[in-house]
Amino acid sequence: MVKTDEKSLEQEQSPTFDLNSYLKEHKILVETALDRSLPLEKPEKIYEAMRYSLLAGGKRLRPILCLATCKLMGGTLAMAMPTACGLEMIHTMSLIHDDLPAMDNDDYRRGKLTNHKVYGEDIAILAGDGLLAYAFEYVATATKDVPASRLIQVVARLGRTVGAAGLVGGQVLDLESEGKTDITPETLSFIHTHKTGALLETSVVSGAILAGACEEDIAKLSKYAQDIGLAFQIVDDILDITATDEQLGKTAGKDLQAQKATYPSLWGLEKSQEQAQKLIDDAIAQLQSYGEKAEPLRAIAKFIVTRNH
Ligand code: FPP
Ligand code: MG
Repeated sequence: MVKTDEKSLEQEQSPTFDLNSYLKEHKILVETALDRSLPLEKPEKIYEAMRYSLLAGGKRLRPILCLATCKLMGGTLAMAMPTACGLEMIHTMSLIHDDLPAMDNDDYRRGKLTNHKVYGEDIAILAGDGLLAYAFEYVATATKDVPASRLIQVVARLGRTVGAAGLVGGQVLDLESEGKTDITPETLSFIHTHKTGALLETSVVSGAILAGACEEDIAKLSKYAQDIGLAFQIVDDILDITATDEQLGKTAGKDLQAQKATYPSLWGLEKSQEQAQKLIDDAIAQLQSYGEKAEPLRAIAKFIVTRNH
């Protein structure tokens, strides 16, 4: 049976860990919290557009990583839930803007029409801006039972992660690299560590900070997150070639079409898969000292290389 209330999920994990149930249960918790976090207000059009993309589904990997790490470090789901929601608001806004005609010009996301296709470009830009601003407001005002010093660290990290030192910087280099055939592995790595890796790392590390983790644990979890972040991107690049539109919920084959430099284009499919697996092994090695308690983080790492969507 899938448990969906925060209290029953606060209890210890059973020795036989079932990732499917874990992901399903936590996805429902996150989606309930997201729905409550952003009620429909006036002007309704903008709230509708923000809610359309925020509640459009998806794996909810970033919020789940934040919750999992907070629990691993001795915190509660409740302590991390507002940050988990803020992370998903930021991720969603970045996808709304990424899909705009000025950037990737995509029509489908998570199996639905993209935000600008439904609401128009003007509202889609504003829906992204609205979600970004609200993410910070929500993390700062809705987080309870966490010392202010930890919360300030999380807010500062979020800011650095979305700005030119993170997502924005990675996206700029990604756009500049389109159509170029001489992208170096270093540039590709910069793009991915900033565009995708930074938010995944902040998802993991912010959960640990909220729980009051020490520097040593934060360093191990940060390395775990960097490794799964890069593996995630390599697998994304592989799936763009091997998966169908239906599996991805968006148009497959876009990287080739846009002549984007990707790991498979640099290394080939087989070596890319091997590299992703090696990164996952390294990530799991970081969790050795935590024993069974870290099983959710181990299983999520393995899921990243085996997923088909
Ligand atoms: C998807 O990559 C896009 C991202 C992971 C982030 C893009 C970042 C921005 C648009 C900057 C957003 C602005 C702020 C302020 C955070 P992709 O195009 O490789 O993947 P896709 O196939 O899923 O579109
Ligand atoms: Mg895109």
